[in-house]
Amino acid sequence: MINIGTNINTAANFLKQNKLVAIPTETVYGLAANALNENAVLSIFNVKQRPFFDPLIIHLPNIEQINKYAVLSDKRLLQLATAFWPGPLTLLLPKKKNIPNIVTSGLSQVAVRIPNHSLSLQLLNLLNFPLAAPSANPFGYVSPTNAQHVNKQLGDKIDYILDGGNCSIGLESTIVGIENDMVCIYRLGGLAIEDIEKQIGKVGLRINNSSNPNAPGQLKSHYAPKKPFYLGNITKLITQHHTKKIGIMCFGDEPIKTENTIIYNLSKTKNIDEAALNLFKFLRQADEDVIDILLAELLPNQGLGMAINDRLKRAASND
Ligand code: TXA
Ligand code: MG
Repeated sequence: MINIGTNINTAANFLKQNKLVAIPTETVYGLAANALNENAVLSIFNVKQRPFFDPLIIHLPNIEQINKYAVLSDKRLLQLATAFWPGPLTLLLPKKKNIPNIVTSGLSQVAVRIPNHSLSLQLLNLLNFPLAAPSANPFGYVSPTNAQHVNKQLGDKIDYILDGGNCSIGLESTIVGIENDMVCIYRLGGLAIEDIEKQIGKVGLRINNSSNPNAPGQLKSHYAPKKPFYLGNITKLITQHHTKKIGIMCFGDEPIKTENTIIYNLSKTKNIDEAALNLFKFLRQADEDVIDILLAELLPNQGLGMAINDRLKRAASND
């Protein structure tokens, strides 16, 4: 029987026994466990088949709790925390000793966030420990944005899926930290840089496009669908691949449909936030549909468009 439901007490009981529970957030679903228990955290790595050098984000219900596990003293980060928590912002902060090294892959900083989802906030309030939670997908695959996505891939390996419906943003959180006294973005995500810069002025970008042992979420090939996925000018790509069954992920304007094409329109009205909501859902859908390859084009580099383009480039197979 599939153990999936909306009962936060059931979820809390499993977590108190150091079991795994998938939780909804506004960004993507997380695969959660007691962050203070090494064995519980170990099972996250095992179930996800995630390498131990890839650190985890801890989730808490309010700012007061953050100070028990990390040092949030930098004025600029405090301002971001106040402006955007609960929300799609993860801060890299000096960790306190009570956070086990397995959570941070031995790094001195821990990634922290307060998710904006009422069920998960209620759940976190029932617990006296933070939840370590990476996205609830096998390592390297597309993040889940509803409970069914989690169930399909990990349902038989976890104790409970807390079903909070569809995620309201659909992209992972934006990761922010400090390097040489400058506030920097380490992962583009559901909080747009423009919104961050309105609060604290210009920030640096530390987005890796190659292998970085400290932040493999930034590995170039990540978020990858199983079908060959090509990014470029859609019209040109169609002529190069016209003999195949093709999926076309577009934004607004649609190419002419033929019997060999399936169209995935991220947003017919060219709304970037709607495109963010649809991106991972369509990447998963394309893996299930009868197509040989998937084609897509970059979106305007504004607002969440930057994070969408980042994910498209990492998912693409053509370089
Ligand atoms: O929206 C999200 O952030 C979701 C939800 C569930 O909260 N979580 C998520 O976790 O996307 P995950 O594990 O899939 O990606 C977190 C990334 C890691 O891959 C790593 O690159 C970075 O966060 N990270 C975590 N801890 C870090 C640390 N101490 N220093 C540097 N990077 C860190
Ligand atoms: Mg992930």
